[in-house]
Amino acid sequence: MEQQDVITLLSRRELEKMRKAGQVAAELLDYLEPMVKPGVTTLALNDAAEAWTQKRGAISAPLGYEGPVMDFPRSICTSVNEVVCHGIPSADQVLRHGDIINIDVTPIVDGYHGDTSRTFFVGEPSPLARKLVEVTQEAMWRGIRAVKPGGRVGDIGAAIQAYAEAEGFSVVRDFVGHGVHRIFHTAPQIPHYGTAGKGKKFRKGMVFTIEPMINVGTYEVEVLADGWTALTADRKLSAQFEHTIAVTADGVEVLTLAPAKVPA
Ligand code: MF3
Ligand code: CO
Ligand code: CO
Repeated sequence: MEQQDVITLLSRRELEKMRKAGQVAAELLDYLEPMVKPGVTTLALNDAAEAWTQKRGAISAPLGYEGPVMDFPRSICTSVNEVVCHGIPSADQVLRHGDIINIDVTPIVDGYHGDTSRTFFVGEPSPLARKLVEVTQEAMWRGIRAVKPGGRVGDIGAAIQAYAEAEGFSVVRDFVGHGVHRIFHTAPQIPHYGTAGKGKKFRKGMVFTIEPMINVGTYEVEVLADGWTALTADRKLSAQFEHTIAVTADGVEVLTLAPAKVPA
């Protein structure tokens, strides 16, 4: 088997490191949230994130991450409106009232990655944008709650797809959740669509992301010539939420909740 096909089961010691990385990631999003306002550029968000990450003694995993066309040139992903994921922060991109923006951060803390994203409103959203974002967040939670002892990876996508499609939206196929620990993207792959009861069995110590991208229109995406920016093929809105989770003996632990929000 290729190294990338092996699903690593993390030890208690490694899980503790993932917890720390996950909490730093959550805190970073909490820090950025109040900056999301009309008039701010996505580069300003990026630069604030990079400075904060350095101050915490962490490393921004996206910066210089290897891509098919070019290495990712910034420290976070900022995906606005019809951008599905991997939007590149830019000085030319000014947020406007009514936009939605997904901010995706992945600090590396003591060698381990905390990968999380949320979609924020810039000012007051349209009713459609609000519904899309709310449905996407709930879809992520339904995926997380589908992780149970004895279950399989397909249970996650089935739960997300059933809910998102019942609400009239579509689920992106071209990007999936992923194993994450010392390695940013590794096995298992976690599709956000699919069939319950199919795929790999959950094992205690597995750590992966659940990060559904949900579209108003078609689920088809296009990637720009920069090799990163993924847009909806029909240029309608897309939203995303992401948590990094660990499979436990009796269910799931969400590693990317802010410390104040982690139940005692
Ligand atoms: N954080 C993204 C994910 O959820 C990956 C970004 S790779 C980058 O997997 F290079 F675009 F940053
Ligand atoms: Co991410
Ligand atoms: Co991810």
